[in-house]
Amino acid sequence: HLEARAPEGGFAFEGPLGRWDVAQLQRGYQVYKEVCSACHSLNHVAFRDLAQLGYSEAQVKAEALTWNVPGVDPTTGEAVMRPALATDYFPRPYANDIAARAANRNAIPPDLSLMTKARHNGTHYVYSLLTGYRDPATFALASGERLAAEFPEFETTDGLHFNPYFPNLNLAMAAPITANAVTYADGTEASVDQMSQDVAAFLTWTAEPTLVKRKQTGWWIMLFTLFVTVLAWFAKNQLWAPVK
Ligand code: HEM
Repeated sequence: HLEARAPEGGFAFEGPLGRWDVAQLQRGYQVYKEVCSACHSLNHVAFRDLAQLGYSEAQVKAEALTWNVPGVDPTTGEAVMRPALATDYFPRPYANDIAARAANRNAIPPDLSLMTKARHNGTHYVYSLLTGYRDPATFALASGERLAAEFPEFETTDGLHFNPYFPNLNLAMAAPITANAVTYADGTEASVDQMSQDVAAFLTWTAEPTLVKRKQTGWWIMLFTLFVTVLAWFAKNQLWAPVK
């Protein structure tokens, strides 16, 4: 399968001076909510975590209320769905694995919380997978040869979808993103490429919310180490000065 590739210009959080592009994370959350959440859970993320994306406490509470989570009716004790609270975690789209498989050609849509960590080069992988659907009949290998010509026995069976970035080459998820599937509040054009970058950035944040802080801490540690090294050098000089 193909190595994942970065979008043009890369991501704001990449490199030693990386920063979150908060507007992008908000757009990515919108893509998750309006597209991916139909099939994929986000088990490790609670609504209150969205405060890190620049939302106020009131906005987080209001956003949580737009989701339904499993609850219990306080009078009858029956299982019901209720609007989420900020302290709730994102709900699962399917009642159980059997329901998930039944709806997806026997494949379970994996939880996305840690996906960008679970896969090699995960951020680029998610971006590449979402933008990488191709027609297997015309797909050319690195050698320039057509996949179909080189491997005539290769087939994408009914109900599966060819994607050269997926290790198995065929997967149960159809291309989930179509142009203008969402309408961005900040006026950004909702192209397939843009939405794929945005949701890949959002899923990088869900997998490692402390990524930017980690890099900033690294700079302080390097500065401190340099300072201690200089001190040690002066101390050594002073200590050995009497020994000619
Ligand atoms: C698999 C992302 C929308 C169904 C995956 C994988 C990723 C992913 C990263 C895992 C590939 C791997 O295991 O390496 C996304 C994103 C979405 C989205 C970011 C929104 C933009 C959807 C939707 C559906 C769906 C709407 C259902 C209609 C599945 C299924 C699999 C899968 C069934 C398992 C495929 C297999 O193992 O053959 N998705 N997905 N996904 N997704 Fe999605």
